[in-house]
Parts: sequence; C-alpha cells; structure tokens
Amino acid sequence: MMEFEKFRELLRADRSIRRFDENKRIDESVLKKLVELMRYCSSGRNLQPLRYRIVSSADECEKVFPALKWAGYLTDWDGPKEGERPTGYLVQCLDTDLTRNLLCDDGIQLQALTLGAQTLGIGGCIIKSFNVDIIQKGLHIPENMKPLYVLALGYPVEKVVIEDIANGDIKYWRDPESVHHVPKRELSELIIS
Ligand SMILES: Cc1cc2nc3c(=O)[nH]c(=O)nc-3n(C[C@H](O)[C@H](O)[C@H](O)COP(=O)(O)O)c2cc1C
Repeated sequence: MMEFEKFRELLRADRSIRRFDENKRIDESVLKKLVELMRYCSSGRNLQPLRYRIVSSADECEKVFPALKWAGYLTDWDGPKEGERPTGYLVQCLDTDLTRNLLCDDGIQLQALTLGAQTLGIGGCIIKSFNVDIIQKGLHIPENMKPLYVLALGYPVEKVVIEDIANGDIKYWRDPESVHHVPKRELSELIIS
C-alpha cells in the first residue's frame, strides 16, 4: 500500500511540463500502458464515454503541435522550440454516440494520466486551448469522437517549482534561469471557516 507521504510527493512532483527532450521519444506501448489505466477510473453513470487517440510518431507529433496554445500567462513565449517539443500526445475524445453530457470523467482521467506518466519519468501538460479542426482532420479522428483535451507528453528538460501565492497573484512565471514557478493557494485559503 502506498503511504500518504509518498502519494503527496508524487502529486507535488506532477507539475505541468512544457519543455521536453525531443530526442527521447516515447514508445507507443508506453502510451497504451497509460491509456490502460483509464479502465480503473471512476465514471459518472459508469458510462465510460472517453476514448483516446494515441500519437507517438514524429510525423504525427508534427501535425499536432501547430494546433496547441501554450502557457497563456507567458506572453513573450510561443511554446517549446524545436528540440524541446512533446514526443507523444494523447487526444482525449468524447464518444458522442454515447453521450454529450459529460460529468467530470475527463478531469479524473487526465489527472490519473499525468500521475501515471510521472511514475515513468514522463512529464506532461494538459491542453484545452487547441484548434479542434487541425486535430480532428489532421489525425483523421471520426466525427462522432469529440476532442476534449490534448495531453502533451515527453521527457522533461525543465525545472518547475511550487511556491505560495504572493499578493493574490496566481500567474505562473519564469525566472532568468528559466525555472518555471507555479503559485499555489495555501491550505488556510482552501478551507472555508
Ligand atoms: C483543465 C486544464 C486546462 C489547461 N489548458 C492548458 C492550455 O491550454 N495550455 C497550457 O499551456 N497549459 C494548460 N493547462 C496547464 C495549466 O496552466 C497548469 O495546470 C497551471 O498553470 C498550474 O500548473 P501545474 O499543473 O504545474 O500545477 C491546463 C490545465 C488544466 C487543468
């Protein structure tokens, strides 16, 4: 059984990563292994309506990348440069033949995916800002599969640190050494008194 402290550390280390070693590709079998974890996630009405398009080849990764918008708060950064781009993606899709009314299955599964990836030394970034058309057409995703999120994955080359929020500012930022800082609310703010 996993100890609470170990779980807490795993979660603390599970930061959004946006710069990767593009020479270190993720094998398709590893991405499949992550998708297999989805079988064990809770699901509203136990409908299990989410599906995944696995992207692992360099060719397909190149098709996905231009569709993505990175780090809105870093206004002077256009996203990872060549050599630091993701080496795998999971496109989470809703099977609209089953339902259009999703509960929170998407978030539950995304968190399980990033935690699972983390245990394999793989970093990721959940991406909601993306061009659906480019993804759907570029990857030949059937019309009844609605892309909800893109999870960008790869072996990290960036350092990310958590810090307490100062002056209520939740915007993440990068220091001159390129370390990415993520302000998090303190426990006292999370608990309603
Ligand atoms: C639902 C959701 C949507 C997100 N969409 C994007 C996105 O479109 N682009 C991006 O660069 N990061 C995106 N992120 C990553 C967040 O910016 C990141 O989670 C936040 O800055 C906190 O950093 P942390 O994940 O390291 O805690 C998203 C995260 C979540 C949970």
